[in-house]
Amino acid sequence: MKDHLVALVTGGASGIGLATVERFTSEGYKVAVFDANESAKEVIKNSLKSEDNDVFIYEVDVTNHDSILDGFKGLAKDNLTPSVLLNSAGISPPLNPLHKYEIDDWNKCVSINLNGTFMVTREFINSYIENKLSKGSIINISSIMGSRASAAQAVYSATKHGVVGLAKSVAQDYAHLNLRANAIGPGVIETPMTNDVLVDENVKNHLLTRIPLKRVAQASEVASLVYFLATDESSYITGTYIPIDGGYLSS
Ligand SMILES: NC(=O)c1ccc[n+]([C@@H]2O[C@H](COP(=O)([O-])OP(=O)(O)OC[C@H]3O[C@@H](n4cnc5c(N)ncnc54)[C@H](O)[C@@H]3O)[C@@H](O)[C@H]2O)c1
Repeated sequence: MKDHLVALVTGGASGIGLATVERFTSEGYKVAVFDANESAKEVIKNSLKSEDNDVFIYEVDVTNHDSILDGFKGLAKDNLTPSVLLNSAGISPPLNPLHKYEIDDWNKCVSINLNGTFMVTREFINSYIENKLSKGSIINISSIMGSRASAAQAVYSATKHGVVGLAKSVAQDYAHLNLRANAIGPGVIETPMTNDVLVDENVKNHLLTRIPLKRVAQASEVASLVYFLATDESSYITGTYIPIDGGYLSS
């Protein structure tokens, strides 16, 4: 029975997070969303196919610990105990070589992509332990930049390597509680984050030269991998990094 399962998705109001919310609801999960976007409720309700989906939306800024704690209080009030966590909230900061990197840009990216993932994961694990759950899964959205680097993307790459390390560490620390943790590395996915880049045909064609499958992916394809990692289909997979990149990292 899946109807008692609850998945918590950060950044669920857009792109990969939103596609995953759609996938989980279509599989019968209740889904809780933490997103800083004030219009998250409207955006999510408008994009879901069915009117009566079990989606609970909380305005949470993952860079703010108090805001995260309020989010978890909201979950408790709504009788939701998540056994699955998808850390998808993230930003792609301006490109710059390191010596010209604005300190504020660096801090903002670390704060959302890395510290936010840490703080939400921390409270998720506290809730998992307090509620004595016997099975759970955490999925961190890293990137192909969690395995390699690209010019002028130091902070993005540093944070995306960071969330891979975080998943591996959590896998070590909580395996005895049957709580698995993995990171996934999307390549180029069509979402609002990549709109500006992909609209430029020259840039898009250049990217495609590096992708053996010769196309970018849809967010729903990433949601399929997230769903697999959330369920018993992946019961023996923990502490690893799985690229989903059309073959980008194979060369
Ligand atoms: N799109 C890609 O090609 C791609 C590739 C690799 C990795 N990723 C990663 O996937 C994740 C999702 O990216 P996307 O393309 O869906 O982006 P997106 O911009 O479409 O969605 C990001 C979501 O995160 C939310 N968010 C941002 N800051 C937040 C904060 N402080 N607190 C709470 N929510 C916050 C936004 O409101 C938004 O809903 C990111 O971590 C991104 O780095 C994306």
